[in-house]
Amino acid sequence: MDQFVIQGGARLSGRLSIKGSKNATLPLMAAALLTDDPVTLRDVPNLADITNLRRLLVELGCEADYEPAQSWHEAGGVLRLHTTDPTPSHARYDIVRTMRASICALGPMLAKRGQARVSMPGGCAIGERPVDLHLRGLRALGAEIEVNEGDIVASAPRRTGRPARLRGARVFLGGPFGSTVLGTANVMSAATLAEGRTVIESAACEPEIVDLADLLNAMGARVSGAGSPRIVVDGVTALRGADHRVIPDRIEAGTYMCAAALTNGDVTLENCPFDAMIAVADRLEHAGVLVTADEGDDPMRCRVRVTASRVLRPLEITTQPHPGFPTDLQAQFLAMLCLADGNSVVTERIYPERFLHVAELSRMGAKLFRQGPTVVVSGVRSLVGAPVMASDLRASACLVIAGMAAEGSTTVHRVYHLDRGYERMEERMRLLGADIQRVSDREPVPA
Ligand code: EPU
Repeated sequence: MDQFVIQGGARLSGRLSIKGSKNATLPLMAAALLTDDPVTLRDVPNLADITNLRRLLVELGCEADYEPAQSWHEAGGVLRLHTTDPTPSHARYDIVRTMRASICALGPMLAKRGQARVSMPGGCAIGERPVDLHLRGLRALGAEIEVNEGDIVASAPRRTGRPARLRGARVFLGGPFGSTVLGTANVMSAATLAEGRTVIESAACEPEIVDLADLLNAMGARVSGAGSPRIVVDGVTALRGADHRVIPDRIEAGTYMCAAALTNGDVTLENCPFDAMIAVADRLEHAGVLVTADEGDDPMRCRVRVTASRVLRPLEITTQPHPGFPTDLQAQFLAMLCLADGNSVVTERIYPERFLHVAELSRMGAKLFRQGPTVVVSGVRSLVGAPVMASDLRASACLVIAGMAAEGSTTVHRVYHLDRGYERMEERMRLLGADIQRVSDREPVPA
């Protein structure tokens, strides 16, 4: 298992181009199961999660060829998907356990093949993560669903012994923590091939849902309202292939913004989805960070300069569904606030247990007090490098940027979590001046 060894203290500066979004790409890939034609996705990042979903799609009868980016500055590679064998329908535990997002194959497979068997994803380091809303939504479209031997077994209603199409319905996707992003993706994708109209109420408004609706519409679907809490889908009998460019990754962009702020840096991000980052920019500006966006023609692909030149001001942050502050940046902002001038309050409203990084930051000298879903951060003058353990993707990013601002050396163990969602983070941080090395557990750690 690899680890990162970081010498803190460098002030980040320079330019970086943001990669295509991991969380947008995953449901887009699953949408290729909805058609017999080829689907081409561009700006696809080279990440472990994408590789895992490719493996799953291949098992499900879909050819999946990935051509990585040719140069550093490209946002990602080209992924060509083509479903040639519509008979398999079982997403096995072996693959699903490596990546929860495999659940996004459920809706497309059920809608196109009339049946799907997907291993039920378990909990993970950030909490319990149920899928009841996905199942409620698909049941509303007429699917029969049971859980058998750890698998979700779903079938479309049968007519004269053969699976028939799902049927449009009014579907409510609100849950105790708001809507569900992948649940909305599943129901919206399945509804494209259903008979009649589906209205999804309390739909997730995340930009990744808008991107999926754009692909589905390019494939001939009739989806409107994506990006709002009410999505309307008029079912069609078949979808065709399409060629689609994935939106840039707002969480990768936010992570580099945080790293720039924490190191009093001056970083310019190209291909930045600023339009989807309003809450993030708001919090950075409140902390005293200068954020200037040159929006050009496309507010989802801008140039954004982030400059910090003083001790940061403390913040109050509450994570919320989009357009609120994203849970996927909570850990990175928490790292940043460890060095702010005063007390900050961070409340997690999406995953109340998503705080495994708190104990690790404390090992670096941070002053944190957690009660339930809230952490109070008392800013300290400096963090001190230490060996720390990554527990999940975003917690890993938090520890890396904390290490870059700490005095001395920090070793972040188990960075395979990071590789699931950040392409070559160490090389990209080095490009900005960070002192960070990837070391395999078998190699000696540099002195
Ligand atoms: N929830 C339910 N029932 C459900 C589904 C969700 O109660 O059936 C709850 C969850 O437990 C959570 C909340 O609803 O409290 C939101 O979960 P959601 O379903 O929206 O999460 P997701 O779609 O499984 C995606 C991202 C996550 C991101 C969340 C929230 C992907 C592949 N994953 O997950 O990303 O945190 O939305 O924005 O798109 C990450 O990238 O690090 C990551 C965890």
